[in-house]
Amino acid sequence: MSQLIVRGGSRLGGEAGIQGAKNSVLPILAATLLTADQVELQGCPRLRDVDASIRILEGLGCTARWEGEDVLVVDTRGLGGCVVSEALMREMRSSAIFLGAILARCGRAELSYPGGCELGPRPIDLHLSGLRDLGAEIDDAGGVLHCRARRLQGREIVLSLPSVGATENLMLAACGAAGTTTIANAAREPEIVDLQDFLTACGARVSGAGTSTVSVEGGRPLHGCTYHVMPDRIVAATYLCAAASAGGEVFLRRAREEHLSTVTAVLREAGCSIFSDKKGIACASKGRLSAVRPVRTAPYPGFPTDAQAILMAALLRCRGAVVFEENMFENRYRHVDELARMGASIRVSGRAAVVTGVERLHGASVRCTDLRGGAALCVAALAAEGETEVSETGHIDRGYENIARDLRALGADILRTED
Ligand code: UD1
Repeated sequence: MSQLIVRGGSRLGGEAGIQGAKNSVLPILAATLLTADQVELQGCPRLRDVDASIRILEGLGCTARWEGEDVLVVDTRGLGGCVVSEALMREMRSSAIFLGAILARCGRAELSYPGGCELGPRPIDLHLSGLRDLGAEIDDAGGVLHCRARRLQGREIVLSLPSVGATENLMLAACGAAGTTTIANAAREPEIVDLQDFLTACGARVSGAGTSTVSVEGGRPLHGCTYHVMPDRIVAATYLCAAASAGGEVFLRRAREEHLSTVTAVLREAGCSIFSDKKGIACASKGRLSAVRPVRTAPYPGFPTDAQAILMAALLRCRGAVVFEENMFENRYRHVDELARMGASIRVSGRAAVVTGVERLHGASVRCTDLRGGAALCVAALAAEGETEVSETGHIDRGYENIARDLRALGADILRTED
């Protein structure tokens, strides 16, 4: 089991490059199945969830190999199966994204139910009803999804809420459907645009990503391509929050402010100076932040739920109080008890959490409860006096290539140790 040892209390200074986006590369890896060809993904982050996706692809008869630091070459010509084992499904909740792609390529798919995760229940009812609308027969008895589609037929699908995963799954299935599919009330996240750009590079006709209506003209044969994955906006938000709370000046290469403008708006309101251009984002902070207006998580372009814990960690020493409202997931305040061990003052009541700024945080032994909650502990530890030991860091590895390397590049005193 590895731990992160953080010695906090000093200002940051330096620059770091931002890795490719986890939430972009996972659906793109599923989308490679649509091509029956070779795809070269540049800027592919080396993450536990990427490894899990590679194992799913390999289990289906495809191959994947790393070339150099961050290039992954996937070859899906050998696809021979349409079953994803329960063990692989368990490893990664977003493995449900493979359903649409396998179904489109093979006309059949068998996956176990992804079930819940550390954030609470993670239903996929919208994925399934959309696939049924396209003509799939799905039997979900006994925790296993048996899906069949002799022929998928494009049509209009209206999502009752703008689910990221359902939008992506339906885009992939629609590529294999005859005629045009229109997804109304689609999610508008930048990762959906990245998926559209990837599919377009493979020869698909997809439009509207980034708006609430995505259209796919299906039934075209897709080919391989070389594609560069977009930078990870939540990793960028994490390092901005680290600098905001510890104080100092940092520059994040490749970070794109247009993807995280709700986060930078809050950090500016809290007193940080932020500048961005095509090369990246610069952030300067004096350390102790001001309180900000209530932060409410919402689908994009609202404030991202994935940045809630991280921003909360940055505001623990603010002057005044800040209200958070988590509207996306039921169980997303599990980091609060751990932050309290460092001296934070946070009161949770249902969807709301109120942070009352304290003058000082102190080092403590804390445990990651989930991916972003774990990153939040590192952000808080950088502004705490003394040493913090962060355990159960496997959660962080799901989404950060090497958080210790990146934070060290930004001037932090952080080490990873293996027990
Ligand atoms: C994606 C991101 C995750 C992020 C989330 C919200 C990936 C791999 N993960 O997750 O990091 O936190 O978007 O921005 O991209 N819902 C249903 N039925 C469904 C699907 C979703 O009720 O069939 C609900 C969920 O319970 C949740 C809300 O819709 O309350 C949003 O979920 P969704 O947008 O689907 O998130 P994910 O795609 O799972």
